This record gives sequence, structure tokens and C-alpha cells, in this order.
Amino acid sequence: MGRLIKEILADVLTTEELKDVVSGFDIIGDIAVIKIPDTLLPKKGLIAQTLLKNVKNVKAVFRQASPISGEYRLMELEHLAGENRTYTEHKESGCRFILDIQKAYFSPRLSGERLRIASLVKDNEVVVNMFAGIGTFSIIIAKQVKTSLNYAIDVNPYAYEMTLRNAFINKVDDRVIALLGDAGRTIENRLLSSADRVLMPFPERALDYFPYAVRALKADGGTVHLYLHVKSKPVSEVIDETLPKLSNPTKLKIDSINCKVVREVGPRIDQVVLDIEFAS
Ligand SMILES: C[S@@+](CC[C@H](N)C(=O)[O-])C[C@H]1O[C@@H](n2cnc3c(N)ncnc32)[C@H](O)[C@@H]1O
Repeated sequence: MGRLIKEILADVLTTEELKDVVSGFDIIGDIAVIKIPDTLLPKKGLIAQTLLKNVKNVKAVFRQASPISGEYRLMELEHLAGENRTYTEHKESGCRFILDIQKAYFSPRLSGERLRIASLVKDNEVVVNMFAGIGTFSIIIAKQVKTSLNYAIDVNPYAYEMTLRNAFINKVDDRVIALLGDAGRTIENRLLSSADRVLMPFPERALDYFPYAVRALKADGGTVHLYLHVKSKPVSEVIDETLPKLSNPTKLKIDSINCKVVREVGPRIDQVVLDIEFAS
């Protein structure tokens, strides 16, 4: 995608300018979302029109006008070109996801990671996603592992509604159970000692909620996938630094930890995932 965008914008931007724009470009359904550095703001209309004209299937172009922030992880968007709507349908790994990109978090950049997790899930597993957004991880797992049971928790009522709807349109509503509320409280109220696998795809809060993730695991153990943002460094160092921060209120013991970089999220900042296996 990066190369294609570079070629498309090569006529209107310098090589230096191109680098900044290309790294901040996403397509969600038929909507392009682009980060434009302040120095290039005078060219935002030109950039947006060029993308609209040349990127296949893009019908609207928006600028990300604020960092992703707040409890629901939302961003402000400025309409730049094409249709003025933020509602779309995104296709990923054979599933359809309907969403308003202004009302719920979604990143197409996690598609590879979602598939990786789905490939780890075994028959009959119970999987709890503590920060499910519009249901992406849970629905892809449910589609691929027909005997899995997936709890998809989110505190954002709109994300919860979209998980219900997306589970229905992907015909996995019998094995994706959307739950609205705080992940910690929801686990305490109804999911203690119930899961084979717990997903924590919310790097900013994952460590705070880690004790709940362990409490959600079955008495004989299971796996927690913990997502964090860290300064770029060898994964062995990430493991060494993270281990003392993991609070475990159960009798389960850590059996193994693996860490991998999921994607770069800023200059020398990575999103990593720690796959932590617990045993009794
Ligand atoms: C980074 S997004 C996760 C996106 C999703 N997993 C995906 O792949 O698209 C974090 C999500 O956590 C939700 N969230 C924030 N605080 C929460 C809490 N205390 N309990 C449950 N969900 C929460 C937000 O509403 C947001 O949808």
C-alpha cells in the first residue's frame, strides 16, 4: 500500500514530504484516513483529491485531526474529499465489519495479528476479549474455529452494538457473546475461572487490568495475550522489564512467555504482544 500511495502522490509532493504522509495512511472500508503533518496542511486538499481520484474503491478522504484518545480510543476527523460520511463496511480475513470510524476504534493494521491469534485457538476453547472494539478478534476467531466460544467485552455502547451486529452478519452470533461494560467488573461478575485464552488489545491499560485477565483463566491455566507500547528494544529486554510489573492474584504459575513486535506505532515505539502461558 505504501508504495502505491507514494506513486500516486509523487506528482504533488516532494520525496521528503512523501515519507511523512505515507506512514500515516489507512484505508477502512471505502474511507481513507490520513495523518498530515502541520507543514503539509496547506496541501491537504490537493493530497486528498489526488488520493480520491487515484486509489481504487476510496469514496471519502478524512484527515486524522487529533491523537487517538479517551476511554473509547477515538480520534477527531476532518473531512477533506469525497463523500462526507464516516460509516463504512470493512472486509478482513473473510469477515465483514460495519462501523462508524468516528464512534469506535478500529485499526486495519492489526489484521495479521488477528489472524495469528485465531490460528492459535484450538477446538472448544473459551476466549475472552477484554477490549473487543467492534468485535474484530472475536469474530475472526469464531469464523475460523467453529467450536470456540468468544466473549467480547467493551465499555463503549456503540462498539458493543456493532459487535452484536457484526457477529450477526458474519453468522457467528451463536459463538460470539457481546458484553457491555468495564472488562474488570464484567470478569468479576460473570467470567471468573472460565477462559482458556484472554486477549488484552488495549496497550495503554493492559497492565492495570492484567490481574483480571489471570482471574478469568480456568483453574488449570491458559494463555493471556498482553499488548503493550514500548520503546523499540530487543524482545528479551521487553520480557525482563515487564515480568516484575505483572500482578497475579491467583495460584497459577507462569509456564512460558514469548514476545513479538506487532507493528511500529511511532518513531522508535513498538506495539508488542506477550503471549503468557499459565499452568496450575
Ligand atoms: C485499542 S481498542 C481495541 C480494538 C479492538 N481489539 C480491535 O482489534 O479493533 C481498545 C478498546 O477498549 C475499550 N475499552 C476501554 N476501556 C475499557 C474498559 N475498562 N473495559 C472494557 N473495554 C474498554 C475501548 O472502548 C476500545 O474499543
